[in-house]
Amino acid sequence: MGKKIFSGVQPTGNLHLGNYLGAIKNFVHLSNDIDNNCIFCVVDLHSITVKQDPKELRNNIRETVATFVASGIDPKKSIIFNQSRVSAHSEAAWIFSCVARMGWLNRMTQFKEKAGKDKEKASIGLFSYPVLMAADILLYDATHVPVGDDQKQHLELCRDIAQKFNNDFQIDDFFKIPEPLIQKQFSRIMSLKDGTKKMSKSDLSDFSRINLTDSSDEIINKIKKAKTDIMPMPVSQKELEKRLEAKNLIGIFSSIADIDLEKIIKRYSGKNFSEFKKDLSQVIVDKIYPISKEIKKLMGDTVYLDKILSDGCDKASEIASKKIKKIHEIMGF
Ligand code: AMP
Ligand code: TRP
Repeated sequence: MGKKIFSGVQPTGNLHLGNYLGAIKNFVHLSNDIDNNCIFCVVDLHSITVKQDPKELRNNIRETVATFVASGIDPKKSIIFNQSRVSAHSEAAWIFSCVARMGWLNRMTQFKEKAGKDKEKASIGLFSYPVLMAADILLYDATHVPVGDDQKQHLELCRDIAQKFNNDFQIDDFFKIPEPLIQKQFSRIMSLKDGTKKMSKSDLSDFSRINLTDSSDEIINKIKKAKTDIMPMPVSQKELEKRLEAKNLIGIFSSIADIDLEKIIKRYSGKNFSEFKKDLSQVIVDKIYPISKEIKKLMGDTVYLDKILSDGCDKASEIASKKIKKIHEIMGF
């Protein structure tokens, strides 16, 4: 049976190889199965949990749409829309903030990481962020949610909210309990500068990530400068556990070229990194350059991008408003 897929990406700029391999590549794969119904949301309300410049935000919303389309998501087959235009998301988020418990949210590690030492200064939105994410998913009765490994905990919270609502109002499967779809391998791509930190849009160093809009020269240069250790290429998978940077680079190779990890280790076993890095740059350029070229082309046609969003918003609104109406009835509004 087909799946109901929902996922979201924040329009915060610098979409990178981690976003692609951890999430977008899977979106494309799932959306190519005609049995699936897919919704991909540009989660602009989530992005304002930290300060955004309005002009940049508008540009980043379009760039996220362009990235979806350039990566291979067909807007005629999948719904692509931006969250702020479907008011049911904000409404359901308020309702769910009365269902979720403080204790549940206090456990969220992403808030702790993002808020840093000065929690008092973090926005309330940053804290309640996963509640809005639950609204996104549950409004559409999504059965499966493709995300990177860092979103696993938020998905568990979403499942808890759905379950508690169903229990509180004694309607067994009013909200579907969604399944996370997380890649088995390489669901967390790490920084090119530090194998203990995930590749991130907000890292101050541009050399820590491959952006989906990078040119071929930039990609080659970044891989050349990527951190490795002084030893030759590993000879076995076991060795990778202690060599985080090597593990990450080999993982990227395996994931992007769809080649078994073991095969790559065998091919480069005991050699020095320079030969491997040359081939790695090539496989990344082969995959990313066509996407980057297409993103740039699409960004020149804002009328087309805006039309994708307004069509998507119409379709999403239709589904979400029906669900919110039922929620109102159940709650006694
Ligand atoms: P975000 O940019 O935070 O909205 O993330 C969009 C999607 O990319 C989510 O599904 C994340 O889990 C995924 N993602 C972000 N960073 C990484 C990373 N370094 N490795 C793998 N997946 C990632
Ligand atoms: N929190 C996700 C992230 O930062 C983005 C997101 C928002 C999302 N709503 C969602 C992902 C719903 C999946 C489903 O990556």
